[in-house]
Amino acid sequence: MLATWFYRNFIAHLLFLLDPEEAHDFVLHLVPASTGMLKVGRAAIFNDAVLSAWPRLQTTIVGSKLANPVGVAAGVDKNARYVSSFHEFDFGFMEIGSVTANLSAGNARPRLFRLPQDQAVINRMGLNGDGAKKIAARLNQAHQSGMIQFPVALNIAKSNLPGLHGQAAVADLLASFEQFQNSNLLYVTINTSCPNTHDGALNEASELRQILEAITAANSRLFPLFLKLSPDSSDEFMQLVVNLSRDYAVAGFVCGNTSVTRARLTTEAAAVARCGMGGLSGPPIRERMLTQVSKVFSLKAADQQIIACGGISSAADVVAAIAGGASAVQLYTALVYHGPFLIMEMLAQLALALEKEQTSVAELVGNSGLGQKIIAQLAK
Ligand SMILES: Cc1cc2nc3c(=O)[nH]c(=O)nc-3n(C[C@H](O)[C@H](O)[C@H](O)COP(=O)(O)O)c2cc1C
Repeated sequence: MLATWFYRNFIAHLLFLLDPEEAHDFVLHLVPASTGMLKVGRAAIFNDAVLSAWPRLQTTIVGSKLANPVGVAAGVDKNARYVSSFHEFDFGFMEIGSVTANLSAGNARPRLFRLPQDQAVINRMGLNGDGAKKIAARLNQAHQSGMIQFPVALNIAKSNLPGLHGQAAVADLLASFEQFQNSNLLYVTINTSCPNTHDGALNEASELRQILEAITAANSRLFPLFLKLSPDSSDEFMQLVVNLSRDYAVAGFVCGNTSVTRARLTTEAAAVARCGMGGLSGPPIRERMLTQVSKVFSLKAADQQIIACGGISSAADVVAAIAGGASAVQLYTALVYHGPFLIMEMLAQLALALEKEQTSVAELVGNSGLGQKIIAQLAK
């Protein structure tokens, strides 16, 4: 559609002249000021047909109704600075963080790289952020002032420090969790899969058990807990994690994080190698995400839910992930390449396709036959 075409062909080229991290910060600073522009775009995209089909987009996460299933992934707004603005993009929900216990500079720069030919990103940010106390205060203040108009979830991670294991790691995560005891949260994700830290993704069920034991004991508000998995996890590890999750009434899984693999890239290998270590995101990891979603869907308990995340950049991608078993989706990298109107455009297309098939997102969850019909409808 026109707005996204304009972003791809003009704005993105200008932004891509900037260093990727500077461009990210620059764009985020513009978010609060761009609500007027978003309103104009919305009026053009959401015609009467879209508005009447809109309720078909509703989905439920941990018993709460979301206006639509597309959320902001962790990492976009690590410090909860722009939470009150993101609903203007028409996202259904967002996940702030990853939040760590203390202020952290993250890894040395440069640590964020674009691969435009693949519409992908490689990052090794290393969990930079303002620290749990400051971020919780900021979030609570935004809630109290009535500025937040959609559900917000929290993503917490172990601090990026060498040798932080066992009870020290548990205490570190707990320190973040406890700062949010007065917050209004849809759910809390424990990020066990960041590839950009000293330890990388958590690969031991025993450490995860210690973490779940402690967080569950401290969870007096009974926040629903999600685990964010690595798309690089083996089937055996996923089985172990899902089994363990049932012992601690984990509400669900975010599938998943960035990947340390470099498969499915068309960018020249030497250019990819120059980026160095880091997690890959965007379309090249979409197949991995879909494989993981269907694997976890087959393993999880009926009342556990999946939020799909990895390479989603179109209405058809949203349908594939939900038909594979996800109840909602999140995205990050697509925003870099397609801009803010992508969400409205995807949702408008999806609402109309659901209307044509006289169905809804709720009916689509885990229904691959229906998914194929809607993807065919979207291609018309
Ligand atoms: C620059 C960048 C920073 C990220 N930071 C975090 C983070 O702090 N915590 C987290 O759980 N995931 C983080 N992610 C991973 C995203 O939440 C998401 O899982 C991943 O990018 C795949 O989705 P996408 O292909 O739509 O980008 C980050 C991703 C990027 C690109």
